[in-house]
Amino acid sequence: MTRFAKLAGSVAIVATMLAPVVASADDKDVIDYRQHLMNTLDHQSGALGMILSGVIPDKHMADHIEIISLVASLSPKAFAPHVEGGQSKPEVWSKAADFDKKMKDFVTGSANVTKIARDQGPTEAVNHILDALPCKGCHDLYRDPSKK
Ligand code: HEC
Repeated sequence: MTRFAKLAGSVAIVATMLAPVVASADDKDVIDYRQHLMNTLDHQSGALGMILSGVIPDKHMADHIEIISLVASLSPKAFAPHVEGGQSKPEVWSKAADFDKKMKDFVTGSANVTKIARDQGPTEAVNHILDALPCKGCHDLYRDPSKK
């Protein structure tokens, strides 16, 4: 057996070991995953709120906004599978064009505010902070917090 054939063989074995894990994401996993992302956003917004109110120094402001923009960038794919449930209203999928646009604006908006915070500092970033936090505008239409 050549070295390449041996290597290819072990890659195939590892792939077989990983395959069942990859294949088993069910509807509950899809909902859990998007809720994990949303809860990360919630915690980061909480940290940002403490900075904005002055109780925590602002030197980490850009970092928290960047985490929000990173999680925002993961979110469109998390809502792509049509799995109703959790706190998502059916409109997430029946009005997908509008929902996707709101999600996309969140991704680009939060990335822009990250750049402003890095290049121009926290004081200027505060003037644009709502672009990184369009949470309510989406939730009012697409989330039903009374559901679990
Ligand atoms: C483009 C739409 C959209 C944006 C923007 C958005 N969310 Fe959400 N969010 C949702 C939807 C839809 C759900 C319901 C998810 C589910 O349970 O299926 C949700 C759920 C949540 C939840 C509840 C999670 C749970 O465990 O039940 C929290 C907390 C949350 N979002 C926080 C935030 C914060 C904070 C932001 C802004 C930084 C944000 N979201 C931005 C659409 C959005």
